[in-house]
Amino acid sequence: MKKIAPSILSADFSKLGKEILAVEEAGADLIHIDVMDGHFVPNITIGPVVVASLRKVTNLPFDVHLMIENPERFIEAFAAAGSDMITVHVEATDHLHRTITLIKEQGIKAGVSLNPATPLTQIEQIIEDVDLLLVMTVNPGFGGQNFIETMLPKIQKAREMINAVSSDVLLEVDGGTTLNNIKSIADAGADIIVAGASVFKSEDYHQTIRKMKEFLSS
Ligand code: DX5
Ligand code: ZN
Repeated sequence: MKKIAPSILSADFSKLGKEILAVEEAGADLIHIDVMDGHFVPNITIGPVVVASLRKVTNLPFDVHLMIENPERFIEAFAAAGSDMITVHVEATDHLHRTITLIKEQGIKAGVSLNPATPLTQIEQIIEDVDLLLVMTVNPGFGGQNFIETMLPKIQKAREMINAVSSDVLLEVDGGTTLNNIKSIADAGADIIVAGASVFKSEDYHQTIRKMKEFLSS
């Protein structure tokens, strides 16, 4: 079953707990949490303290996307805060294998992510060691950007790469997903689709997620 992971980056930060409950009731499968450090990306968002507070409001899995330099420094803190999966960027750590191992040692799922301009060959040697591959379809840092169309063949290639080694690795797509492109993203092979602005800036979360899921199953 393909899944929808609303990204709280586009939620109202003055009432994050309520926003999470609202998307949970609307049918969200996971909660995507974007962590930014002002170095790896030109924006700053939230840290482990906020994740730990949000952990109390829902049992939905927390899909934590670290857009921070040297993420190995914060893996234990984000795991202790209640992350169910932690994804790090291949561009952000010198010792990717060690970082992935550290995440798995916390008893949670480990993901690796690629910026749009980073080729899939960068993760050839690590793909069998991860639980999830996150393909960025915008340049990370902000919600509400346009999907980069040339990423569609990259998603297809990522799917082929995963199928060639192990069908267990989940393929996640993040950035610029909308009701207009979600079907082609799913058809290209995504298992989990992150949706920020298209959910949280919509009038009716329930209707939006229901329509998204219709596209995923059609
Ligand atoms: C971008 C983040 C995304 C973002 C997606 O840096 O990693 O998760 O919140 O938001 P939309 O769906 O609005 O592009
Ligand atoms: Zn993200």
